[in-house]
Amino acid sequence: MEENFKIIATTFKGLEQTLAEEVRELGGQRPKTLVRAVSFYGDMGFLYKANLKLSTALRILRPIAHLRNIKSVAVLYNKIYDIPWEEYFDADKTVFFHVSGRLDGIPHTHFVSQKVKDALVDRFRDRTGRRPRVDNREAQIHINLHMFRDQMSVALDSSGDPLFKRGYRKATGKAPLNEVLAAGLIRLAGWKGDRHLIDPMCGSGTIPIEAALQAMQVPPGIFRESFSFMHWKDFDAELYEHIRQAMLKRVREPFEMIKILGYDKDGRMIDKARMNAEAAGVDDFVRFEQKDFFRTEKIPGPVTLIFNPPYDQRLSLRDKEDFFRRVAAHLKEHYRWSTVWILSDIPLGRYFGRRPFRTYKLVNGKIDVFFSGFNIE
Ligand SMILES: C[S@@+](CC[C@H](N)C(=O)[O-])C[C@H]1O[C@@H](n2cnc3c(N)ncnc32)[C@H](O)[C@@H]1O
Repeated sequence: MEENFKIIATTFKGLEQTLAEEVRELGGQRPKTLVRAVSFYGDMGFLYKANLKLSTALRILRPIAHLRNIKSVAVLYNKIYDIPWEEYFDADKTVFFHVSGRLDGIPHTHFVSQKVKDALVDRFRDRTGRRPRVDNREAQIHINLHMFRDQMSVALDSSGDPLFKRGYRKATGKAPLNEVLAAGLIRLAGWKGDRHLIDPMCGSGTIPIEAALQAMQVPPGIFRESFSFMHWKDFDAELYEHIRQAMLKRVREPFEMIKILGYDKDGRMIDKARMNAEAAGVDDFVRFEQKDFFRTEKIPGPVTLIFNPPYDQRLSLRDKEDFFRRVAAHLKEHYRWSTVWILSDIPLGRYFGRRPFRTYKLVNGKIDVFFSGFNIE
């Protein structure tokens, strides 16, 4: 039996609890929430699973060293040199460094990554006579360095491309919602595939598509052709394929009676959403229609609406106020007994004449946003 080791999954601010729940559901040991991350324990098979299945994770990291007392650049060089890099990957791989945070008393990060690179390359050259090449665009090996005070944690990023790059989104609009955030919204809203779901301003369709993937238990990473861990020395292709197949076997059709719908007033967006749904293999289960939300009515049965309306920062506050007033009025008049979740950059309580029954603070791109739920009575 292979031993468990520590794994860290990163996410967006505000989704830590959601990610921890997902880790627990998947069987991760001792999940612990951190800032924009969750740590847990698992074996190599679990690391593969985490990459394929965790819908709210951005990257899955495998910590390999924690360096302390880095008082100078020379010390940093020596400590990085001491890491047995050649045990993790071969010299013919290309590498990339993701650097964050800073070290007390040591100037800017470019300088730090330069030193780290020198130490790694020198070690490879000394031990193997060959050296890996740095590639800033399509590296095979991703090395994550996080600095704090005089310490540095060093991890291999097993994902490579961040996990929101699912591989199904072929076309987007101007302000597409990040796939990981969309998956998080659906989970925060508590939607479990047992009620109709409508995104009435769906753009390129990210929310309905992620909802269908969740309802069908499709691992969101299944469309990807590569993960960085495939370039590690200990990559077990057979185990990976076994895990992938086992996950595919669990895929099921959503409840027949449940509708997942996306509307947008812009027909070009509807074309894009359909294309993306097809690429994700959920086009039989999600319906997209060109509709102006202000002309729609509730479909029969309990309905959950989740949407991120346009928040054009160029819009004047008055136009914005007018827009949300109309959204709330339309919901109250035409969506009685529904639950609506809205992602917005301003609190919406006053438009509904009541406080939301739940609000989560999240970040969309660089904008602080609220994700608020209202019951329409
Ligand atoms: C921020 S985008 C949504 C992005 C989407 N979640 C995605 O992943 O691509 C807002 C969308 O609302 C649509 N929209 C604006 N007003 C609308 C209305 N009255 N009815 C329907 N759609 C509307 C816009 O066309 C735009 O595509």
